[in-house]
Amino acid sequence: MEKTICITGGAGFIGSHAVRLFVKKYPAYMIVNVDSLTYAGNLENLTDVENNPNYKFVKADITNQQQVNILFHEYRFDGIIHLAAESHVDRSITNPLEFINTNIIGTVNLLHAAKERWKGNYSGKAFYHISTDEVFGSLGNEGYFTENTPYDPRSPYSASKASSDHLVRAYHNTYGLPILISNCSNNYGPNQFPEKLIPLAINNIKSSNPIPVYGKGENIRDWLYVEDHARAIDAIFHQGKNGETYAIGGNNEWKNIDLIRLLCRYMDEKLKRAPGTSEKLISFVTDRAGHDLRYAIDSSKLRDELGWEPSLSFEEGLRKTVDWYLEHETWLRHIVEGDYATYYERQYQER
Ligand code: NAD
Ligand code: TYD
Repeated sequence: MEKTICITGGAGFIGSHAVRLFVKKYPAYMIVNVDSLTYAGNLENLTDVENNPNYKFVKADITNQQQVNILFHEYRFDGIIHLAAESHVDRSITNPLEFINTNIIGTVNLLHAAKERWKGNYSGKAFYHISTDEVFGSLGNEGYFTENTPYDPRSPYSASKASSDHLVRAYHNTYGLPILISNCSNNYGPNQFPEKLIPLAINNIKSSNPIPVYGKGENIRDWLYVEDHARAIDAIFHQGKNGETYAIGGNNEWKNIDLIRLLCRYMDEKLKRAPGTSEKLISFVTDRAGHDLRYAIDSSKLRDELGWEPSLSFEEGLRKTVDWYLEHETWLRHIVEGDYATYYERQYQER
């Protein structure tokens, strides 16, 4: 094998798309998916590549320093693409400590193991941290986040991701560790856990349950199809400059309420319901604490330097996503019938 690449969090939403892309596109790379399989990790996301000779799954917890060290010793990774994290803002509000542990301590364990294992012999090595645009805080109606926007995280989730970004840069500045960071806007697409807005709404519309919209639905997000994020990760891992940060976005801003209305329209068409049926399910509920108003990314650096741009329109991406969820009933049922029901009840009963 030419290289051994560790992808952490490869059983999660974005991680599984990154694993699939790398396993299929780079048969000369050994891809080691390191994931502890929390509620969000699901090996059913990867059944199509699980028997490939250049793919291996290892169940390990990045918060366990000893486990991380053993992995580095055993597999002699040439590169790390680090996606493992606690990723849901609402869960970070109810349980911040878990976010601090996984997102900060887990990242430091990986950084430290990479530094110790590579021991200053950094040729051909890279530590790539996948981060979020939420580290930049909340925008008003104008402007965009860029690589130079000052950090201003406002939720326990975004603060823990900001902290891990700082630690990645600290290992670069202090020890010369070769690093890359990207901060991406909201992803959507197949395999997303239905605690996040789009799959939650699809699931509720499908079963004719209320669609909870926080506050007045005025908050704005910039949506990117997950496979386009995976393509950006590939471009940055292979062509990104050591020490640099790249902002990734869909150039696709939607107010939550407008997005939900569009989704209702597509679902009515798809499920052959009368126009307007699903919109009646919209239910305005108590707003999220500290709810960031707007995220929007200017990804011109990535476009100009690495030639990346989103490949799908939102209409294409959203329709593909709806089709995928409707065609993967078993995948959805396994989640909905698990701990999800308990989470859902706790999260929404008092709103
Ligand atoms: P996800 O919640 O779907 O998946 C996270 C994965 O990490 C799961 O497979 C889980 O089992 C694993 N994991 C969690 N704790 C672990 C631990 N201690 N040890 C090993 N594995 C562990 O998340 P996602 O939405 O795919 O996000 C992946 C990454 O991308 C995260 O770092 C997130 O901050 C970032 N990101 C996400 C978005 C988005 O819209 N989802 C946008 C920008 C950046
Ligand atoms: P989410 O998918 O949780 O992503 P993030 O908070 O990381 O942006 O939420 C996207 C937007 O949708 C956000 O403004 C919160 C809102 N939202 C709802 O209105 N209702 C919901 O049930 C959820 C989960 C989110």
